Amino acid sequence: MMFIKCQIRILYICRLFKTLKMIQLHDKQFVPFISAEEIDFAIATMAAQVEADFADEIPVFVGVLNGAFMVVSDFMKHYKKPCEVSFIKLASYEGTESTNEVKQLIGLNQDLSGRTVIVIEDIVDTGNTVLELKELFKKQNVKHFKIATLFFKPEAYKKEVKIDYIGIRIPNKFIVGFGLDYDGLGRNLPEVYQLK
Ligand code: IMP
Ligand code: MG
Repeated sequence: MMFIKCQIRILYICRLFKTLKMIQLHDKQFVPFISAEEIDFAIATMAAQVEADFADEIPVFVGVLNGAFMVVSDFMKHYKKPCEVSFIKLASYEGTESTNEVKQLIGLNQDLSGRTVIVIEDIVDTGNTVLELKELFKKQNVKHFKIATLFFKPEAYKKEVKIDYIGIRIPNKFIVGFGLDYDGLGRNLPEVYQLK
């Protein structure tokens, strides 16, 4: 009986703690979901996997702006071998929903033919963006094309494109923080929050 009472008290304290750490962005409230430590561990693991798989290459990491800027930065700090970086800017989300249409806002300004390209994404949701990227790089005659993403929503994913490196699988919920935004806000949060 004592044990159950103690457990209920711990649950209550945890819930209280979450409520205290709740944040408001525009009209919506978000609660803590994934810590900065978990994120760092996931990125370090992905960087180590890519490093092992392409030990003899100088890969070009292509970050997808805006969302992936923090992932790219931390990924490169964990990657210890020679590498290059480039960015492309795509957009498909409005508010908390995918529009199913991917717009290219800034294109690639580098010849990547014959190179090993690792696309770095913040999150793969419906897969519209990765499909668009795959088509784009097919025309570039790259040597290897791989996709690494910090977050992956398996329940929302609708495409056949293989996601080669996955940091953390999450349920089909809208999240913000660590580069991810809700209508422009929340990108600067060092940890990830989910819609309440
Ligand atoms: P996809 O094209 O549907 O796979 O979505 C890719 C892009 O949508 C991501 O790179 C994000 O910019 C955005 N996105 C998808 N899910 C979320 C989310 O939960 N929070 C914030 N942005 C998201
Ligand atoms: Mg993105």
